[in-house]
Amino acid sequence: MDFSAELKRLVKEVEAGIERLLPPASTRPARIHEAMRYSMTAGGKRLRPVLVLATAEMFGASTQRALPAAVAIECLHTYSLIHDDLPCMDNDDLRRGRPTAHRAFDEATALLAGDALLTHAFALLAEEYADDPTLAHSLSRVLAEAAGSRRLIGGQMADLLAEGKADVSAEELQFIHAQKTAAMIECALEFGGIVGGANAEDRKSLRECGRHLGLAFQITDDILDATGDSAVLGKTAGKDAKAGKFTFPRVHGVEVSRQMSRAESDAAEAALGRVCRDNMFLSNMIRSLIDRSR
Ligand code: IPE
Ligand code: IPE
Ligand code: MG
Ligand code: MG
Ligand code: MG
Repeated sequence: MDFSAELKRLVKEVEAGIERLLPPASTRPARIHEAMRYSMTAGGKRLRPVLVLATAEMFGASTQRALPAAVAIECLHTYSLIHDDLPCMDNDDLRRGRPTAHRAFDEATALLAGDALLTHAFALLAEEYADDPTLAHSLSRVLAEAAGSRRLIGGQMADLLAEGKADVSAEELQFIHAQKTAAMIECALEFGGIVGGANAEDRKSLRECGRHLGLAFQITDDILDATGDSAVLGKTAGKDAKAGKFTFPRVHGVEVSRQMSRAESDAAEAALGRVCRDNMFLSNMIRSLIDRSR
């Protein structure tokens, strides 16, 4: 298997899906639809939707069947980034190599574009899987759980609350990362399993794989914020320290953080191994994320 060719193919599918499944930019009022597309088409690694497609294919589902679920997750993720960048949250100017949505448009438009993408994610699940209400229901439920106040939103809240503190425990930091980032990565793998008809046991292993992969991913994001380059990252490096964020490098140091990220990545592969399917692509994907530079 040629990993990079396969990854390219899946990213291309996701981008074609985004083009097809978002309202046209000219839809009235054009400004909101332009802003939604501005953030959605800015690039980005497309990690979550690629995980959906690859996992669904691993269970024998077609790319086309899994595509709306993949685009829905990317809509939800992009909304979370638009809001994460707002002045009242992380106050960032650069995202995916472009000015953030509130810089390119204005704060109110960015807020609304985020709201609209969040809503559109659920609309896609309801509309594109209307032929199989059980599937639509199951996907909606899993996405609502991952994106809700106990998980993604809860993690974002805890992240902001920690900013004002003198200290946070390693356990609290782990909680923040597991909620704000790992929840959506778990959701991506489970989405693929759901579309592919995976059984309960395999879904559990996929969630476990996603949890470890999500932790590895956010630990690396923290390391890159501290050590990376804005031009390569496509977002401002060095922001976490300036904002007084609690990150893995701050609490554990860069070297120990790298070891922890590798351990989480190994645990992700072990969980994936419990799903008895040809997992060559996903296994390569997990390993490729450890040494990423963006
Ligand atoms: C950024 O996610 C936010 C985190 C959870 C670390 P990504 O690093 O996946 O961002 P894009 O989608 O590639 O822009
Ligand atoms: C993850 O945390 C953000 C979301 C869950 C949206 P960060 O605040 O570290 O993400 P970046 O570094 O701005 O992409
Ligand atoms: Mg943040
Ligand atoms: Mg941020
Ligand atoms: Mg970060």
